[in-house]
Amino acid sequence: MIAANPPRDRLGLTLAQHARKTSGNAQAFPRRAQPLDRYTMSTTFQLDTSTSRANPTPQPMRRLTVPAIRGRKTDGVTGEPLVMLTAYTARQAQLLDAHCDLLLVGDSLGQVIYGLPSTVPVTLEMMANHGAAVVRGSYHSVVVVDMPFGSYEASPEQAFESAAFLLKLTGAAAVKLEGGAAMAPTVAFLSQRGIPVMGHVGLTPQAVNVLGGYGARGRSDAEAEKIVSDAKALDEAGAFAIVIEGVVEPIAIAATQAVTCPTIGIGASAQCDGQVLVTEDMLGMFERVPRFVKRYEDIAGVIDRTVARYAEEVRDRSFPTPDQTYQPKA
Ligand code: KIV
Repeated sequence: MIAANPPRDRLGLTLAQHARKTSGNAQAFPRRAQPLDRYTMSTTFQLDTSTSRANPTPQPMRRLTVPAIRGRKTDGVTGEPLVMLTAYTARQAQLLDAHCDLLLVGDSLGQVIYGLPSTVPVTLEMMANHGAAVVRGSYHSVVVVDMPFGSYEASPEQAFESAAFLLKLTGAAAVKLEGGAAMAPTVAFLSQRGIPVMGHVGLTPQAVNVLGGYGARGRSDAEAEKIVSDAKALDEAGAFAIVIEGVVEPIAIAATQAVTCPTIGIGASAQCDGQVLVTEDMLGMFERVPRFVKRYEDIAGVIDRTVARYAEEVRDRSFPTPDQTYQPKA
């Protein structure tokens, strides 16, 4: 479907036309295969606070800010650890929001939502759609959207165009990108131009084809040194926080101590400045999870038992009952 009223700048240009006109450099801003003109997402960010929420709060809470998250770690000390979970849909965001400081629209949605074999095929448009849904479903957490593979690595300019697209179309506050020292110039470029960046070091799933798998990182001296120096490079470049994923614990602790910004661990250490998990993993939606995941619930089991009851009641015609059917008015 083509949007009747695609988002336009004040000269009436669509986002894609705007990017091409203002770049003046076809190399730096290559045309994407799917022109942004065709983008159909609503950019209405107004929150309907009358909608019932799973964990109703008396009043909507104020949304946290990126500086507030960054400021949680002062002089190397973090008081209350940062709580981050992944969210991909509006309803999921509503359920998680009041409990979290940050919601990450992770490119793990490729596997979790779309059944893809890795995060590599995830597109910018997929991230924008899910990012917008999560922003609409939240009013408290800082929403961070992952930059998908191929949308930022070529140059800081490419990264800026992609990140600006994500922030404009979703209303999220920040982006996350994977990679260490090689990405530091890009992190500096974005953060100096109004785009807060969360870094991601250690096990970086978008690089699975280079890493050869999802095993823990930092077991050799060379790998350990690189993880710490990568984290330092991102910190110096202006990252407001850094995810440390799948790293042996002493190296995760060393990296946390080496940087001024908060670190957020996943398969790292309780001494990181915060923690993140994929929500579906910790809720028990999948039978097999990485060893660093704690399954707090067995939602897959709940769904299985509930759907079995529904199927039985449909088959023996005990559902629907008069309570769930409309009768003619007397
Ligand atoms: O994509 C994702 O969900 C992530 C987290 C696992 C940190 O990057």
